[in-house]
Amino acid sequence: MNDEQRIKDLREFLDKQNYNYYVLNAPIISDQEFDFKMHELLELESRHPELFDPNSPTQRVGSDINMEFVQVRHERPMLSLGNTYSKEEISDFYQRIAKAVDGRPFDIMCELKFDGTSISLVYEGGKLVRAATRGNGTIGDDVTRNVKTIKSIPLSLQGDYPAQVEMRGEIIMPRAGFEALNQQRIDIGEAPFANPRNAAAGSLKLQNSSQAAQRPLDCFLYYTLTDEREYQLHSESLEDAKKWGFKISPHCRLCHSLNEINEFVDEWDKKRETLPYDIDGIVFKVNDLQMQYELGFTAKNPRWAISYKFKAEQAHSKLLEVTYQVGRTGTINPVANMEPMSLAGTIVRRATLHNADIMQQLDLHEGDTVIVEKGGEIIPKIVGVDLDLRQANAQAITFPTTCPVCGSPLVREQGEAAYYCPNQSSCQPQKVGKLIHFVARKAMNIDSIGEETAELLYDKGLVKDVSEFYKLTFGDILQLDGFKETAAQNIIKGIEDSKNVPFERVLFAIGIRFVGEVVAKKIALAFGNIDNLMNATKEQLLSTDEVGEKIADSVLSYFADPNNREMVEKLKQHGLQTEIKEKELASETFVGKSFVISGTFTNYSRDELKALIESHGGKMLSGVSAKTDYLVAGENMGPAKLEKATKLNVNIISEEQLIQMIGE
Ligand code: IVH
Repeated sequence: MNDEQRIKDLREFLDKQNYNYYVLNAPIISDQEFDFKMHELLELESRHPELFDPNSPTQRVGSDINMEFVQVRHERPMLSLGNTYSKEEISDFYQRIAKAVDGRPFDIMCELKFDGTSISLVYEGGKLVRAATRGNGTIGDDVTRNVKTIKSIPLSLQGDYPAQVEMRGEIIMPRAGFEALNQQRIDIGEAPFANPRNAAAGSLKLQNSSQAAQRPLDCFLYYTLTDEREYQLHSESLEDAKKWGFKISPHCRLCHSLNEINEFVDEWDKKRETLPYDIDGIVFKVNDLQMQYELGFTAKNPRWAISYKFKAEQAHSKLLEVTYQVGRTGTINPVANMEPMSLAGTIVRRATLHNADIMQQLDLHEGDTVIVEKGGEIIPKIVGVDLDLRQANAQAITFPTTCPVCGSPLVREQGEAAYYCPNQSSCQPQKVGKLIHFVARKAMNIDSIGEETAELLYDKGLVKDVSEFYKLTFGDILQLDGFKETAAQNIIKGIEDSKNVPFERVLFAIGIRFVGEVVAKKIALAFGNIDNLMNATKEQLLSTDEVGEKIADSVLSYFADPNNREMVEKLKQHGLQTEIKEKELASETFVGKSFVISGTFTNYSRDELKALIESHGGKMLSGVSAKTDYLVAGENMGPAKLEKATKLNVNIISEEQLIQMIGE
């Protein structure tokens, strides 16, 4: 047999064994034989670089190359589900459906609600071409390289699969693997993850995929999206997906009445502890796809599905101390430190107390036994005190009147829950918090400067406010302990690159209280440049979309401070973007033309190709229709798209032809 054929056979064989082991939980060969065959394949592939296949089972080990995540737009938005918390609300959902389908019989598919992180997997020609996180539902991160290391996710599909299919599901970290991972992290002095959900999400965002390969991740799929099959039922599409090699939960159950649904809920509320992974509720889906279509969506959720969240778990523990953290805008956050307790599968030591009002309601006393609850949110909270166990002479705990760090008297504005430290100009955690916020991904995106580096730069007196990042020199950074040339170069480059970050993000980055991402965008658009904003009147601010009294006052007080004005002035001088820029097109070649792309390409990734077309004025469409001018055809393109394009007389062009058209 020639090498090419042998490589092909080995790849198929090893894919099959991975499937038996990780999806079916039923290996049929020994680990030794698996390793032996894997070695043979690795060896053959190294002799034949021309036969490289990104989806070969050898690629699951990951790579040491650090990567940045490219953002990708989901073909169809990834919505979330509405939540219910009681049997009454489940019944309301059921009745709503019954009414909407007007007496037709219907079934509800009950599924476990996996407590992980959602994922979209796109397959073309049976090959995994893209894995993306949910992100904001419209745009997510391309995490394909990390996802490829998850053994229960097929890289190549089996059987009669559609040419184009997107599967959605949940990546989870089973509890045993999570505990082991956290123990390892504690052993080497790294902070443990708060829960398996965070650990799963964090693992997908690792920059180094060979590290991701070490993380014990798994994946259940629960949603099939393809135009090529005419399924009548959701359950049917899952059955098929199972045949293509996906791991579908064995615990889905089709229910024919509200009673059956309630039984399923009660059963799993009890049994969930016996699963090797966390679930945080149950998902109900109308099984009939025609009915799903009729029910449709609200802006945020499908109307044909809903989730039920299990009640939060509670535990008791002894309060040791209340400490107070100072946030970047000066807000004082009280934190309860307790004797470690086990809660919902993790060890809990700290809980948020939110603010002075909540502390007062709880009427905490020293040494109290507190009742801690962990719901959907990551941070546990204290919901009550066991008064029977309070010591007779215990002192009440009162909120401080001065800042725990700088000693300034605390301020509380009318109508606000939080106390804050007004000493913006020299209170350390506020200063450092502002630096950290400034470099954050959604702000200036200087990812070579992390939290620790920002703190170090501040403590060493090198960067006292955000404008001083732009004065940093290569030599300044080399002085710092543990910083070598490459790190220093990366930092300088990151700072330099940030000068191209658009105005609206600069506005968000400077950290005006209450001016979040969305508001910053609205303000940037309304005022056009920073000078107009600095001179804005309250009326002008109030007439801006999304801006009310609180935000308007905050913007005014920010620019009333001469220190802030001076800092903004410096940022301007350093060349940051302080005005809105019209997006310039590279050329107008494609203005008025609509494109669909399909398959995989050699010179560009699909997203790069889309960006290229858009930068020359073209419009991207998700499916071929009479409005399509060009179909850019790649390898393994879906036959349905090709057929439709031919029928509609759409111009079918190759990647090379497209590049020629724009003369790149
Ligand atoms: S269906 C349009 N099914 O829960 C329907 N979601 O807010 C999409 N989840 O973001 C979701 N288990 O990450 C569905 N069996 C399941 C699920 C599930 C977990 C997650 C998913 C989604 C969130 C709902």
